[in-house]
Amino acid sequence: MNVAHELAPARAQLEKLARPLGFVPTMGALHAGHLRLVEAAAEACRSVVVSLFVNPMQFGPQEDFERYPRNLDADRAKLSTVGVDLVFAPDVAEIYPTGFSTRVEVSGPSRGLETDFRPHFFSGVATVVAKLLIAAMPDLATFGEKDYQQLLVVRRLVHDLGLPVEIFGAPIVREADGLAMSSRNAYLSQTERAIAGKLNVILKEAIAHVRRGASLSSSEESAIDALREAGFSDVDYVAIRDAETLAHMETLLRPARILAAVRVAGTRLIDNMAIELHSH
Ligand code: PAJ
Repeated sequence: MNVAHELAPARAQLEKLARPLGFVPTMGALHAGHLRLVEAAAEACRSVVVSLFVNPMQFGPQEDFERYPRNLDADRAKLSTVGVDLVFAPDVAEIYPTGFSTRVEVSGPSRGLETDFRPHFFSGVATVVAKLLIAAMPDLATFGEKDYQQLLVVRRLVHDLGLPVEIFGAPIVREADGLAMSSRNAYLSQTERAIAGKLNVILKEAIAHVRRGASLSSSEESAIDALREAGFSDVDYVAIRDAETLAHMETLLRPARILAAVRVAGTRLIDNMAIELHSH
């Protein structure tokens, strides 16, 4: 497994890799959710490249850019067990050299939800993902449904810019109690971790309410109440939306998704689930 820290040597390595080439962009601090994306890329492709880059452009001034966990050696060790050909781990100056002035703005799916609370987030993501995709020119790139709105934004970006890459969305990998795996879970104390584990349970209850015929808005509201009861210090949103466009919906005539963002003490967590209309 080769490791490149700069774009030029990364490109030289990429040219030697067998096609089709799969690409998994990450911010490092890898867990089983990331490794599942690598496996999905490896199943579909002959070579896999993974990027590790904590992207300052997608963090707000009050957010956790400085505190975000970084551990290149541990990440390399994990990646070497799953058959990765190249790791690209640039520093900030390599991606954003002095004078960097470009920002990629995606509208459509980036409106609302995360953007209401993290206004610069998706242009930061879109800018770095566009730069990384152009650098790597993969045939396939994998993204997790954990960041569901991000996945839709990336699909829109790739479609709109006509980048010749297939985007594959992989299901959420969860802990035993259902908490979606996240690098930020490392911030949680034991008490906070116990509270965090209730988010997925409460979202499942909201889906059950909807299935029993409750209105979408009352199901969202009772989930917000239940999250506050469970000890979450803030609920940014709980929203049931059209799964393809994230548009508001009154009734479940189209595939829907429940999405939530909450805070446990200082840690912000997100989760989402498909709403299956027919019980099995
Ligand atoms: P990061 O949070 O490191 O996540 C990298 C990829 O792993 C994303 O596609 C994310 O959705 C996926 N992922 C994270 N946790 C997961 C889980 N529990 N199950 C399945 N997939 C999971 O998302 C980013 O980095 C950045 O925004 C990035 C796209 C790299 C741009 O900087």
